[in-house]
Amino acid sequence: MKEFKILLIIAILVIAGYYGIDIYAHHEMYGNLPKPDFHYLDLKDVNIKGDPVKGKELFQSNCQSCHSLKAEGLNAMMDAETAQNAFNVVPPDLSNLGAMLAPHFLFNFIKNPQNATKNPKFAMPPMAQLTDQHIADIVAYLQSVARKNFTGKDVLTDACTRCHSVKYQKIKAFTDEKHLKNYLGKVPPDLSLKGRSKDREYLETFINNPQSVLPGTSMPRLGLTEEATNKVISYLEEIADPHKQQRNKVGIWALIYAFIGVVLTYAWKKKIWKTVDK
Ligand code: HEC
Ligand code: HEC
Repeated sequence: MKEFKILLIIAILVIAGYYGIDIYAHHEMYGNLPKPDFHYLDLKDVNIKGDPVKGKELFQSNCQSCHSLKAEGLNAMMDAETAQNAFNVVPPDLSNLGAMLAPHFLFNFIKNPQNATKNPKFAMPPMAQLTDQHIADIVAYLQSVARKNFTGKDVLTDACTRCHSVKYQKIKAFTDEKHLKNYLGKVPPDLSLKGRSKDREYLETFINNPQSVLPGTSMPRLGLTEEATNKVISYLEEIADPHKQQRNKVGIWALIYAFIGVVLTYAWKKKIWKTVDK
């Protein structure tokens, strides 16, 4: 029985050490993270019903100069090269952002992009010519065309890769590094492994409100819904560690195997010692 007691003590020490240190380290690194706010409560609430038909016209006269909306066959009037020379970043296609961004955020964003994104240098100019009703119409239009069953990869393409590359997926940022550096002060990091090097809570808070984690950072607040945020994080985790699920499954079998080994070894030892004079 002595062996079992020793084994038990070791097991307790290992478990306590592992979880103790893990939880402690996690707390030290991430313990003071603010909670994400997917309602964007700092922005003015609006309650105006928009008309998507009017919104389409307004989109064509106010947004299409810079943005494409491929879902409706609308190309931007400005090509990507001209756009990045003008703004240092390629404006995103707006086909699906209407489903990925919180409506309340989107309204406030169109009204005043610098304020909503918390980035005073955000490259899209404020749309001072539009009334609140116009903006509500555009939001209604963007929502009406957007695909509701988007994937995490869609979020990455529509909301992230104008700035970020994801080399392991062979995705190169739509904007050249030179322009990104001019615009953001640095080239944004590659996202291939961020799903592994950062934990989920951190990513959630950072993407929801970059300033709350890295004050002064040039990554804008994007206004993603909770659903879109979760999907993009799951996608980042998946590509950073594609074999994780498989490994977890194998891990359980390896533990069972080791346990059977321990039991057999112990039984064998008892059997041998029984025949030896003590
Ligand atoms: C003069 C060019 C220009 C016009 C006009 C313009 N935008 Fe933009 N927009 C941009 C640029 C540039 C960005 C990307 C900036 C960045 O990522 O830092 C952007 C980004 C966006 C985003 C992404 C925001 C996010 O959170 O990811 C949305 C949505 C958007 N614009 C909607 C609109 C709508 C709707 C209109 C018309 C009412 C419009 N834009 C008009 C240049 C423009
Ligand atoms: C307008 C450009 C821009 C867009 C769009 C953008 N980012 Fe970033 N991102 C940056 C910059 C710049 C940094 C570097 C921040 C710093 O170090 O201050 C960054 C950093 C990051 C980091 C690293 C954070 C850290 O602590 O190391 C992650 C993760 C990230 N972005 C994820 C995303 C995701 C996911 C999206 C899309 C949902 C996205 N970004 C969209 C510009 C952008």
